[in-house]
This record gives sequence, structure tokens and C-alpha cells, in this order.
Amino acid sequence: MDLSNRTSSSLGAVSMKYMGSKRAMLGNGLGEALGRSIGDAKRVLDLFAGSGAVAWHVAERYDKQVLACDLQKYATVLASAVIERTEPISDRSWVESWLRRARARVSAHSAWGDIKALQAALREITVLEAAERARAIDFTVKYPLSRAYGGYYFSPMQGLWLDALRASLPETDDFRSVALAALIQAASRCAASPGHTAQPFKPNETAGRYLIEAWERDLPAIVRARIEDIAPRKAIMKGKAYCISATELAEEAREGDLVFLDPPYSGVHYSRFYHVLEGVARGEVGAVSGAGRYPEKSERPTSDFSMLTTSKRAFDELLAILARRKANVIVTFPAGKASNGLSGDDVKLLAADHFHIDEAKVSSRFSTLGGDLKHRAARQQADELILTLSAGRGN
Ligand SMILES: C[S@@+](CC[C@H](N)C(=O)[O-])C[C@H]1O[C@@H](n2cnc3c(N)ncnc32)[C@H](O)[C@@H]1O
Repeated sequence: MDLSNRTSSSLGAVSMKYMGSKRAMLGNGLGEALGRSIGDAKRVLDLFAGSGAVAWHVAERYDKQVLACDLQKYATVLASAVIERTEPISDRSWVESWLRRARARVSAHSAWGDIKALQAALREITVLEAAERARAIDFTVKYPLSRAYGGYYFSPMQGLWLDALRASLPETDDFRSVALAALIQAASRCAASPGHTAQPFKPNETAGRYLIEAWERDLPAIVRARIEDIAPRKAIMKGKAYCISATELAEEAREGDLVFLDPPYSGVHYSRFYHVLEGVARGEVGAVSGAGRYPEKSERPTSDFSMLTTSKRAFDELLAILARRKANVIVTFPAGKASNGLSGDDVKLLAADHFHIDEAKVSSRFSTLGGDLKHRAARQQADELILTLSAGRGN
């Protein structure tokens, strides 16, 4: 693929379009709140890791062990790529051999000629023809990502590269971890969908140009760019990421640990928005259906924190565990009413039942939730509450 006409921004300075990512807030109140509370803590726990932005931030800056968890595997992969490694990776020979192995798989595909011709013609044919041709390409079960998502979230060329790179990951642990994280971020960057992967752009007059724009992205080049971002990073102290529930890791908290809580605020499960990334992390996707090409429900983790009927109880129980374990806590939550039924005020009241509230601040954040075609670039601004809680007392 030709890189010459790609701008550096298209190579992915923005690594993840993640709903609720705290990356921006780290420079706007959250980073300071963490810095003030981290003091004597031996460990920092990030119980809803998501894009991994907070776990990375802490692990790279502080001499503390970071433990992170999320219900979704891809989030665990992203966090572990930095928090579990204490040396930067400067060697790049493994990247070249990884890409070489993948390229051999790509060009060995029986429809390689058609796939290449279609990619080259994306700007010359109508979007409808592009979609029809893309969907007519036969991908067997050996190409699970292309089979599920090719012709929708990805062009057949991108899908084929995703499968080929996923199937030929390096074997050395650290390289493999960075490679898979880079692949997940590149998939997020290429996905032809607004903000997240709940539904792909349709090949029609309104969305068609966004679909083609996304399908044209050079996936292996973006993978390389993401490696350049991730590989030099490292944790000061070796941590660990787990694909388990927040409650489970909370039970492991110790007195004086600093626990960061950034729970879901959406009334729809995250797994509905990010199933494509989960497929990349797992390297397999079962049967898919519906406009969003969702895998079966049994393959998508559900969260008590995302359901109207259970979100309050789930949050209360989590805070009770952390109070019992005598951990100190920082919570972020939208200041207004969120779609899982909780509001910033509810969260504050629940917190006061279990902890002393040292500080309650409101910071601005940008959200991709609600990103649509018209406002694709202009992400929504919302106020977010930051609560700093200390163990030992309820108000
Ligand atoms: C608001 S996002 C976190 C964003 C993250 N702080 C960042 O900066 O990207 C909430 C995350 O919680 C995860 N999640 C939902 N329920 C969970 C549970 N019971 N245990 C652990 N993680 C959960 C979701 O998968 C999602 O990644």
C-alpha cells in the first residue's frame, strides 16, 4: 500500500475513538486529582480500564504498581501493552517480520486480485457498487474478521490485513502484546462507523463518502504508527491487566490503595459499541446479525452498571467493597443525568454513604457518545464530576 499520500494525522495521532475516554481529562483536572491522591499508595487500581488511558498515565509517571481490569478483552490487551512492561522496545525487526508474514497471507488469498482491484477503484466507482463488490467476496472461516465485518466496517483489503496480522502475531510476549494493542487501535481508527462500532456507515448518499474515506485508510501503515506510539512507553513498576469484573478486582484492594472508578454511564452495554475490537482481540467472531453485524448476545459481556434497574445497586455494592477494603477512591461520572439512570448527584450521595468526600470538582470532557454524521468531527462537550474519596468515614 502506498503511504506517500497519507498525512501524519491520518496515521493516528488520535489512537482510540473511545466512548468516555479520559485521555483529554487527564490534562484537565483528572491528572492533578490523581497526582494529589497517589501519595503513599503502593498500588493504583483502574477498575474500568476502557481505552487504557488512565492506567497508562499512572504506570508511566508513578512508581506504583498499576492493576487494571475491564469486562472486555480488548481493553485488557490495551492496558497490558504498557502497564505490564518496564522496558521500552526499540527493536523494530520483529515489526518487519510480522508484516512480511502477514503480507504473504494477504497475497495468498484466492480472491487477492479482486480485492486489490476493488481497493484501487474505490474512488472511481459508486459507493453502492463498491459495497456490492466487497460483499460478494467469499471469506471462509479462516478469515473470521473479514467474514464478519468485510464490506461493512472494513474494505475487503483492510479485513484481509486484519485477519492476516491477527493470525501471524509475533510469539515473544512483549512484542505480541504491543502488536495486538496496535492492531486493535488501528481497527478502531479504520472502522467505517461514527465514533464507535455500533453500526457501520451505509453505502448511501448521506453516509457513502464517510464509508469510502474509512475504507481507504491504510491499515498496515496505521498499525506501524501505533507501534511507534506504544513501543517506547513503559511502566515504572510492572503491573497487570485482567479481563474480570470490577467487583472481582475490588475484592483484592488493600488498605491505602488508590482505586480509580470510571464506570459506564450508558444504558447500552459497551460490548454493543465495541464488538469489532473484541473480535480483533479474540481473533475470532461467531455468527453475526443485524445492521451492526453483532455477534450473538452470549458473546457480548453485559454489565450491571449499564442497566437502569441495576446500575445504582452495582455502584453501591462496589463502593461498599472498597470502603471495607479501606482503599482511597477517585470517581468520575457525568455531572448530569446519564442514560443508565444515574446522575452525578446520585453518585455523590452513594459515595458519601461509604467514604469521606475530600473533593468534588467538575471538569469538562468531550464525548463521542451521540456522535453522528452531521457532528462527526464536533464531539459533544459535557461536564464531568471528579470525586476524591478517602477511606474510613461516611459523611
Ligand atoms: C467509561 S468506560 C471507561 C473509560 C476509560 N476510563 C478510558 O479512559 O478509556 C467504562 C468501561 O467499563 C467497562 N465495564 C463495564 N462494566 C464493567 C464491570 N462490571 N467490570 C469491569 N469493567 C466494566 C466497559 O467495558 C468500559 O470499557
